[in-house]
Order: sequence, then structure tokens, then C-alpha cells
Amino acid sequence: MTTYITTPIYYVNAQPHLGHAYTTIVADTYSRFKRLCGENVRFQTGTDEHGDKIVEAAEREDVPPEKYVDRISRMFRDTWPLLEIAPDNFIRTTDPDHIATVRDILQKVHDNGDIYFDEYTGLYCRGCERFLTDKELVEGNCPDHQVPPKEIAEQNYFFRMSNYQQQLIDHIRENPDFITPERYRNEVLSFLSEPLEDLCISRPKSRLKWGIELPFDDKFVTYVWFDALINYLTGLGYPEGQDYATFWPVAEHVVAKDILKPHAIYWPTMLMSMGVPLYKKLHVHGYWNVDDTKMSKSIGNVVRPGLLVEEYGLDTLRYFVLREMSFGLDSSFSSDAIVGRQNADLANDLGNLYSRTMAMVQKYRGGKIPAPADYEKQDEVFRQAVGLMIPVYREAMSDFRFHQALQAVWDLVGMANKFIVVSEPWTLAKDPTKEGRLDTVLYSLLECLRIVALVLQPVMPTAAGRMTAGLGLDKKSDVTRLLEPGANWGGLAPGSVLQPVESLFPRLEGRKKTKGRKGKVAGKVKKAKEVPESDEGLIPFDAFTKLDLRVAEIVAVKPVKKSEKLLALTVKVPEERTIVAGIAEYYQPAELIGRQVIVVANLKPAKLMGVTSQGMILVAREQVDGKERLVLSTVSDAVAAGSKIS
Ligand code: MSP
Repeated sequence: MTTYITTPIYYVNAQPHLGHAYTTIVADTYSRFKRLCGENVRFQTGTDEHGDKIVEAAEREDVPPEKYVDRISRMFRDTWPLLEIAPDNFIRTTDPDHIATVRDILQKVHDNGDIYFDEYTGLYCRGCERFLTDKELVEGNCPDHQVPPKEIAEQNYFFRMSNYQQQLIDHIRENPDFITPERYRNEVLSFLSEPLEDLCISRPKSRLKWGIELPFDDKFVTYVWFDALINYLTGLGYPEGQDYATFWPVAEHVVAKDILKPHAIYWPTMLMSMGVPLYKKLHVHGYWNVDDTKMSKSIGNVVRPGLLVEEYGLDTLRYFVLREMSFGLDSSFSSDAIVGRQNADLANDLGNLYSRTMAMVQKYRGGKIPAPADYEKQDEVFRQAVGLMIPVYREAMSDFRFHQALQAVWDLVGMANKFIVVSEPWTLAKDPTKEGRLDTVLYSLLECLRIVALVLQPVMPTAAGRMTAGLGLDKKSDVTRLLEPGANWGGLAPGSVLQPVESLFPRLEGRKKTKGRKGKVAGKVKKAKEVPESDEGLIPFDAFTKLDLRVAEIVAVKPVKKSEKLLALTVKVPEERTIVAGIAEYYQPAELIGRQVIVVANLKPAKLMGVTSQGMILVAREQVDGKERLVLSTVSDAVAAGSKIS
């Protein structure tokens, strides 16, 4: 099986931002997923470097367009590795072979009679780089750029797009997956229900020189879209290259809704005229806003991918955008949203599952993977749940429903955390007759982690790599088998040894607003307070040393009668004791078992609602929209219960 996945080639009139990063992360994730399935994959991105917009941007910087495009194109190329995006090909429309092929194609389409010369008076929008129809205007303005288009009368070359209208309608009707999600397919069909106008595909050199010269008239350059769309073919070495033969029949394009029309109408009709089979699929996604506001330079809220990686980490960024956006719909980026996902989904759910499991195997089996004994009913149910996640994940990933694929993985993570609670490994460990059962439980949890790590590879290559390394697996050898039916369980070899891994996902502090300083992800991590010069409010060191802070492991949890806020926790420090904590609104008893928290172990005992509390659990108190949220303290790696904090 073969996959060819592309992103739009980005205009070099602006630097890469969150929107470009999203599309490119999507294509990268899909390409990694397909490789995981054992397919032969080609992933292409690149830059679109001709046209009005670019000339304007170069003029603003007072540099020749050639120099300008080199600089910005390099920025795109250099940004992708920061996000672990690994395209197989990075194409530029100023590449000589691209230019040569575009000219050949123009000549071919001209020769077959699909290009004609005409005088045209129309409403031209510089932002869109095209003539708009009256119908497209909203209160006289271009709907995308909110400015009135200019009336221009000039002689130009036109592509007979209208000749292919019916053929295109038929193709879209016969191939329901040609444009997805369905709302965009419907939008295109509705647009095609009116007569299609021919497409103006030239610009007189008197107005624009920075473009590909028409092969049949040197007084004109090509319209930038006629040039740009062809990148999907030239990147494969069309018409002769082997890559063209291999990959073109399976071409899938990913774009946002802003460029639906060029991809769903211009491009297929161009292909029809050229006699080239149509691409297979067009995947259309929505727009990222920032703090519910359109991202724009003038507002100063443009979010830069490099800074996002610096602030939140690569894995968190990739996970966040794929989990947060329902593919096809708009979404809003905010610091709170990304920190929330990091803390809840990554640090709490997955991070804790991983560290608890690894710590238990360390503690009860000296870090060696045990051989499972018989599977009891609840082990079997859990094992089946792991098996059931895989096809749901696979189907959702194949359909570009990334958020649902991740939801399926997190449902399983939640189930695994509950499996720990119900199977109580700490109780099994005390009973010598339950050795086999403890082996099965631990093995099942490790297998679940292995499978979760593998399915997360396309989304979070670094974190998933660390997870598999911790499980003592060679990344490559285990991957391809994963999605084969029936080959899912039992990849871990009993007897092999776990490797130490540092905390997978550290918790993040809340951030301030995303918009702030121009062009930056604003609201940096809060800095530690400066030490004031006076002694006021400070304690001497020996006051601090009086505190006996320890790591405690929660082994049992009971509600406190008549209290909605309190929970009575049995913790090990290392001896068992009860600590009452006001965390019932924030944590379910089930999700607390097995966690390590930091406690003050030498507080005088106090009675709370009739229960004696022998210590205090440390929590972070966060203010979210005027409400307080409590988050348990913990250590960044599993340690023996009772370890001292200093
Ligand atoms: N050069 C053309 C594309 C030619 S493809 C043959 C172009 N370039 S662009 O730089 O404007 O990129 C547009 C694309 O960038 C969108 O289709 C989308 O992939 C991405 N995004 C830009 N802003 C975006 C958001 N705010 N949100 C999501 N994606 C957006 O159009």
C-alpha cells in the first residue's frame, strides 16, 4: 500500500505560524501513521514563492524578491524539524524543474484549446490574487480581506474551466470521499450548481514580473495559483518520474477552508484538461483562532510554532492541536487550553499510569517484566479493551478524525488507571498465593503501555519513543506488527528489564493571556519572586528543616461521612497512616490509588469530621476564572514511599 500526502505550499510573504504548523503536523502525523501500518509513504510540503503578495513583501523589506524568498522559505524549512515534522520533499516554486514543468503544462493546455486570449474587466482582490465575482462580495468587500476589490480592465489569457464543470460535478457525486468532511463537499457542490466562469490565468508583465513566463506569450507571467497547484505533480518528477507513477494515483491533499476553491475546482479541472487522473482525496480543516480572536499581525496575536515548542514542549504542542481541533471545524488556541490538556491528559492520566506501572514493576518484580499467569475475568476484560481500541484508533486516524483517535486511546488510559484500582496490586503483593495474579496484572498494564506508546508514535514521536525505551523495546522492530489484526498482545518478552526514564510529562504552571507582546506566545512562565531586601515574611533555614516532608504513596481512599470535600487517604510514609485531605471535589477516589504525593509528616494530629488526620498533603492551588482548583503535588519520578524531601 502507498500513500502520498501533501500540505499547501505556503506563501513566503509571512513567517510560519500556528495555522501552517497545524496543517503540517496533520500531514506529518498521517504520514507516520501510514508508515506504522507498513505503507510506502511520501510526504511533501514546501513554499509558494511567486505573485503580487511576495513582491509587495520584498518591497517592504527593500530587497530583491529572489533574496527575500530564499530567506523566508528557509524559515519554513527550518521550522519543521523543531516540530519533529519530517517531509520527504520540500518543494519551492522557484525550483528550475518546477518552472520548466509548469511551462510544459501551460503549453499543453494551450495546444489542446483550453486557453484563450480575451479582454476582461473585473474586480480584482490583491489579497486573493484573483478576480472576484459580484456574488462573492460582502457589502462590496472581499469576504476574506475586508477591502473593496479594484476594477481592472486588461487583456489576459483564460483557462476554459467551464468546459469541465459537469465532469467535475459527476466526479464529486460519484466519489463521496473526494472532498471531506462532508460540509466542504456540500459547499463545493453548491458553488458548482451555478455556471462556472473561466479562470484568468495570466498577469501582464507591465503589472507583475515575478512569476513564470507564459511559454506562448512572453509579455505575460502565469497566475500564481496555476503555478502553485502544479507543485503536487512536479514534486513527484511528473511526467516521467517513477515517483509520479507510484504516488500520484494515491495523492491526498490537506488544506484549510481558505483555499478550498482552488483545490476543489481549479485543480481538478486543470488535471482534466491535462489528461491527468484526479487526486484521490482533499481533506479540509477549519481555522485556528487565538483566544477566540482571528489570528492577525495587526492584533499582534500571531502564534509562532518555535516559541510554542519552547514554552510547552514539542509533544504537548502536537498532542494539543490534534486533540483539541475537530478536523473540519474551527478551534481556539489559548495558553489555558494547552496547559489544561498537558496537566490533565498528559501529566495526570498518561504520565501517572506510566510512572505508577513502572514503579510497581520495579518494586514488586525488581524491574523485570513478569510472565503472565492465567488471565482472570477482569484481566481478560481489560485485555479485550486494549484490543478493541486499536481498530477504533486505526479507523479514526485513516479518516482524519485525530481527536477521536486520541479520545479512544485516552479512554483506554482511563480504563488502565481503573484496572490498577480494582486489581489492587499492592494487596496482591502482600499475599504469596497471589504471585501469579500479580504477574498477570503487571504484565497486562505493561502491554497496555506498550500499545499506547506505539499508537502514540505518529502524534508524539519523542514521548512515545521514551515510553518504548523505558519498556526496553527497540523502537523500530515493534512498530509495524502493531496494526496487524491478531498481532496485538504479547509483544513484551517476560524476563526483559525495564529502563529508567525520567518523568514523561512535567506539569505546567498556568499562563497568562496568549496575546500580548507582538508576534510572541505571550505570558511567559511566572518567574520566581525576587528576594526582597528586608527580612519581612522570610523564615530562617532551620525553621524549614523542622518540616518533615516526605513522599507518600496513596494505598486506599474512603469518603469522610457527611463531608462533600474531605477524603480519608491511607498513605504509606513508609508506615501506613491516615491523612484527611479536602480534595473530594477535584479527584475521584479511584484515580488516587497508587499515586505518590508530598506530605508534611510531622504535623500534630488533628480531628476532621471525626477522622484523625496524621499529616497534610501538599497541593497546588490554582485560580481559574475566579475559581480555585487543587492539584496534588508529586515527584518527577517514582521513588520509594517515605523518601524525604529536602
Ligand atoms: N500559497 C497558497 C497555497 C498554495 S497550495 C498549492 C496559500 N498559502 S498560505 O501561506 O496562505 O497558506 C494557507 C494555508 O495555511 C491554509 O490552507 C492552512 O493550511 C494554513 N493556515 C493558515 N492560517 C491558518 C489558520 N489560522 N488556521 C489553520 N490553518 C491555517 O494559501
